[in-house]
Amino acid sequence: MTSLISSQKENLVYDRQQWQQGYQSQPNEYDYFIDEIEGKVPEELQGTLFRNGPGLLDVQGTPLQHPFDGDGMICAVSFLPNGKVHFRNRFVRTEGYIQEQKAGKMIYRGVFGTQKPGGWLNNIFDTNVKNIANTNVIYWGKKLLALWEAAEPYRLNPNSLETIGKDYLDGVLSSGDSISAHPCFDPSCEFDEGQPCLVNFSIKPGLSSKITIYEFAPDGSLLRQHSHTVPGFSFIHDFAITPHYCLFLQNPVSFNPLPYILGFKGAGECVNFHPNKPSKLIIIPRNASDEKVKTLETNSGFIFHHVNAFEEGNNIYLDSICYESLPQVQPDTNYKQTDFDNLDPGQIYRFKINIDQETVDKEIIESRCCEFPYINPNNVGRKYRYLFTGTAHQNQGNAPLQAILKLDLLTGKKQLHSFAPQGYVSEPIFVPKPNATDEDQGWILVMVYDGYKHRSDIVILDGENLEKDPISTLHLKHHIPYGLHGSWTSEVFI
Ligand code: CO
Repeated sequence: MTSLISSQKENLVYDRQQWQQGYQSQPNEYDYFIDEIEGKVPEELQGTLFRNGPGLLDVQGTPLQHPFDGDGMICAVSFLPNGKVHFRNRFVRTEGYIQEQKAGKMIYRGVFGTQKPGGWLNNIFDTNVKNIANTNVIYWGKKLLALWEAAEPYRLNPNSLETIGKDYLDGVLSSGDSISAHPCFDPSCEFDEGQPCLVNFSIKPGLSSKITIYEFAPDGSLLRQHSHTVPGFSFIHDFAITPHYCLFLQNPVSFNPLPYILGFKGAGECVNFHPNKPSKLIIIPRNASDEKVKTLETNSGFIFHHVNAFEEGNNIYLDSICYESLPQVQPDTNYKQTDFDNLDPGQIYRFKINIDQETVDKEIIESRCCEFPYINPNNVGRKYRYLFTGTAHQNQGNAPLQAILKLDLLTGKKQLHSFAPQGYVSEPIFVPKPNATDEDQGWILVMVYDGYKHRSDIVILDGENLEKDPISTLHLKHHIPYGLHGSWTSEVFI
């Protein structure tokens, strides 16, 4: 590991040009056994790692204004019983992707600010949204689903990654409905005799917001569904669960759609953050029709992602990544020119909610810049000890994510595995070892972009001892642009 120390502008631990190259489109689709492997892939590690993220950062040469507008591309890394590892990537063939590839030009505006060429005149009154299916990918109910929060999921063949088409979850969704890209997996649901279940939500924003909760059985069938209307516009990307509650943080934002409708800005750029207004913490019971929805106020800044939540006595604890202000790309700037020194870092706070007294206390539990938190999936909704997250190399300020942090919430002990100066990390996915007895007994799978070689690696780290050398580094033959979310399944698909 490197021991470079710095946080000053003139002495960065990363090379800005190398960092920018991680946003180059990857238009090619690959299919091969990985043959450049350092270390040894653990024999017990068998299954498939799926990842999603924008594969194109331009449409036929027209650059995107924001990377979140890029067409979804799925990567599948299959760990076979014979120790071989196979890589495959495919674009989700959404209607919009097919149309634009065929037309050879940009047809759609992006939600986060990408405008069609031709200025406002060519964008005015065009609110036609392209489903880009680029945020997450899950395998549930024998279906591989690419998720994007503003539209229907797309279903893919888990072996070939061929796109099957839009999926309505066996009739639960209707055409034009959406479902969030952040489902929670309850490892042992109290309402279903300890069976695992998948909990997800959808939001219909407006002057008030309708939140619908869905819970699905392992075979994909719907177990429970209920809707609740809360006052105010909502911009909610993620939520958290406990055995009895769903927790939502309604950020203090308002929405003025006029610049979007008139063709000046993307819809995402019309969200205005009000740092001095309180956030609302919405607590929805999962399965009790007699228990009321509670809304409590707190100050949280802006939240995209939660780490986890759990119940203890009369209290609910919620751990979340909070920004003092909403990180936004301004319409006339390029995201690749991001001035990290002017952006607030995402820091981890713990909210303690007393459900009877209706009080919320908060304390900071990690001040360094964090994003893409992950925990042992067996502890979702339960008291937990270990938190893994992407983080910056230096311990202060905002910077690209170049390291993985392990935080022991019991002792406060921290471990850091940094890939600086040339490595840039993605979400660290924790895979428990078979027959593990301790929460951190598992592997961390992380895709790392190597800005010097302009290629990506799949790195396997030891969950118990994050600081030691990687167990294995699998070198891909090409780069994968910075991704968003992914998941692991113990089923081997190839
Ligand atoms: Co997310």
